[in-house]
Amino acid sequence: MIISLVSQKGGVGKSTIATNLAGGYACNGLSVMLVDADPQKTSYRWAKDRKEEKLPEVASRQAKGDIAPMLSSFAQDYQIVLADTPGRDSKEMISGLSVADIAIMPLYPSQPDMDTIETLVINIAAAKKVNSNLKAYILLTRVATHPKNTEKDVALDIIKGYKTLAAAKTLIHDRKGYRDAISEGRCVIEIKAGKAQQEIISLAKEIQSW
Ligand SMILES: Nc1ncnc2c1ncn2[C@@H]1O[C@H](COP(=O)(O)OP(=O)(O)O)[C@@H](O)[C@H]1O
Ligand SMILES: [Mg+2]
Repeated sequence: MIISLVSQKGGVGKSTIATNLAGGYACNGLSVMLVDADPQKTSYRWAKDRKEEKLPEVASRQAKGDIAPMLSSFAQDYQIVLADTPGRDSKEMISGLSVADIAIMPLYPSQPDMDTIETLVINIAAAKKVNSNLKAYILLTRVATHPKNTEKDVALDIIKGYKTLAAAKTLIHDRKGYRDAISEGRCVIEIKAGKAQQEIISLAKEIQSW
């Protein structure tokens, strides 16, 4: 299964989600390849750190340009292939969508980020022309934990207005555990970050039901 993480903006949590899913699936005994197509190398560095710590293995490669052939080839050898792509309409993002089974689009529930949905819809529609099996889900990330904050409800209402998109049921809240884990080459499950751990387990299960 190929899962591509895409967004129009940086800093929304693509690498956070890619590394946590990679670590989570590896902890469950699945073979995982994490392709890092972002020159920032966040995911690649994370995988290197965990190798030094001898944690359940996540293989990782850097990639540039048309990443589709690489992803398809890895999908023959690994149960889970995750692609962490740079923000915007990059070649990496477009090619990553062209062979993915699943596209996860992390989105911060604030107006400027919600404004990027239009472009995401266009990219998904274009990708579906060459990859009709593509399933695309928006994942709300860094959601405020304060119960009175209603930004996520507004965001979910806006997403409901799009026929070609759906929102993941799992919400990823803003939790320190995510920052701690990524800095240690671990996923939140491996640092026992309570609520963040539950969110990643829930997301990993939800993905397998899509
Ligand atoms: N759910 C979250 N809770 C807390 N901090 C987060 C969360 N998601 C991302 N971050 C932090 O936000 C910053 C950007 O996240 P990152 O995953 O690197 O985004 P991207 O890969 O989309 O650029 C990082 O410092 C990361 O640790
Ligand atoms: Mg990143």
